[in-house]
Amino acid sequence: MGEIVVSMRNICKSFGGIHALDKAQLDLQKGEVLGLIGENGAGKSTLMKILSGVYTADSGQVMVAGKEVHYRTPKEALDDGICMIYQELNLVNKLSVADNIFIGREASGGILLKRREDEKKAEELLKSMDLHIPPNTEVGSLTVAKQQMVEIAKGISYHSKVLIMDEPTAALAVSEINELFRVIRNLKEQGISIIYISHRLEELFEITDRITVMRDGNYIDTIDTSRGTMDELIQKMVGRSIKWEKKQTSQVPADAPVVLEAQHIVSKDIKDISFCLKKGEILGLAGLMGAGRTELARLIFGADRRKRGKILRDGREVRIHNTQDAVKNGISYLSEDRKGNGLAVNLSVEDNIALPNWELFTRNGVIQFQKVKEAAQKAVDEVGIKTPSTAQIVSNLSGGNQQKVVIGKWLLKNSEIFIFDEPTRGIDVGAKNEIYKLMEELIYNGKSIIMISSEMPELLRMSDRILVLCEGRLTGELSIEEATQEKIMEYAVMRNTEGEESDEKG
Ligand SMILES: Nc1ncnc2c1ncn2[C@@H]1O[C@H](COP(=O)(O)OP(=O)(O)OP(=O)(O)O)[C@@H](O)[C@H]1O
Ligand SMILES: [Mg+2]
Repeated sequence: MGEIVVSMRNICKSFGGIHALDKAQLDLQKGEVLGLIGENGAGKSTLMKILSGVYTADSGQVMVAGKEVHYRTPKEALDDGICMIYQELNLVNKLSVADNIFIGREASGGILLKRREDEKKAEELLKSMDLHIPPNTEVGSLTVAKQQMVEIAKGISYHSKVLIMDEPTAALAVSEINELFRVIRNLKEQGISIIYISHRLEELFEITDRITVMRDGNYIDTIDTSRGTMDELIQKMVGRSIKWEKKQTSQVPADAPVVLEAQHIVSKDIKDISFCLKKGEILGLAGLMGAGRTELARLIFGADRRKRGKILRDGREVRIHNTQDAVKNGISYLSEDRKGNGLAVNLSVEDNIALPNWELFTRNGVIQFQKVKEAAQKAVDEVGIKTPSTAQIVSNLSGGNQQKVVIGKWLLKNSEIFIFDEPTRGIDVGAKNEIYKLMEELIYNGKSIIMISSEMPELLRMSDRILVLCEGRLTGELSIEEATQEKIMEYAVMRNTEGEESDEKG
């Protein structure tokens, strides 16, 4: 064992009657990347919030650099060199990169002088991380990936010794993940220790030195990454093994009718896309971040205005000018952004599930609360939402379980077509499997699905056919039989340069 910088022992924490942590433990060595994994609700974020001073433990011991600590606020932890980068970034969009990094820290002299000084310091800091972001850029104009880098730079500026990253890649594209990994390796070399939470196991094998596994608030085991296997990890995490393989052939009957057709869809970002979806089909939408997949979905769903193009349902043109039109035509859209469009986090599970479905629970203008409860409970059971009751406030659920609430509420709608936008983002392997089963069940019941995903194994496992987008254009279509990660990637980076356009129109 190398030098231990953080040691947590017998950590217990309850919220009301819920034991989020029950004798959890963790050791972090100097200059290592320690992965932290476990199913949704296993207690990873809670444990890290205790380390970073957001919560205090009910009992147990936290040692930092050999001394027992009792942080009461994140500021105290930060002063001690422990910094947490949040799942939801903490930046102020309207301020510059430099202002965000040095916000709330006084420098002597006037405002202008401070700004110049801050910008210079920020520039040096970013340079030391080998990042090329001008310090006077407004943060809101940066990509999520760059914003995250700024957040990390901010952490480093406090001379942090320990950086905690809670699902840092959940919103990143492949190239951005590589950039993040480069920064992480660089920090490691400077002797900084990193705790890295992720549900993407491939990533953990790439970036971590060791991996600590948690289950139900308990410590399970810690393995050396170089000696561990994927199977072993999943086994420890969910207590059973889960098979993961590609779909061999399309499951769509040859004579299945087309339920949805999009013809020449054009908007600001979407450049003339046409495609169709068959009954009982799972149509995968692949592409890199910014390829236009979500934009396309929103146009189909009427959430954004299209400039041109027709939408046909069961062969007839339909008017979809807003989301109500889409819902009336049997289309549901499960948004990728659970905090933005998907959920009212300050309301209960019940309210969130019932909200878009009031008409199901109203008789003669009176809401039947018992029915609401029953329906919510049914959704909780079907999707496997881990919550003490349907009355729990959504913001108290773990990230993955919040995602399941989004899915639960749309399942009540009697839709024919479901657009799933990154349905398993932030969801653990076990729960992913449940969501896949759920999709398969929808298909079995004659529904059709469009699935947007950035995770190739998921696309290859679920889709009957895959469309690939790049910069708002449809660059490729692959049957599941011919699809491979390499082929998808090839189309995903097929930029619009002359001479390459011959097979573009779909
Ligand atoms: N503020 C809170 N109030 C009530 N319960 C909470 C609160 N914070 C966490 N919990 C509960 O504690 C348990 C652990 O949650 P935590 O967020 O630590 O899980 P996690 O391992 O980070 O999961 P995920 O992978 O989904 O992010 C969950 O059952 C969660 O609902
Ligand atoms: Mg979490």
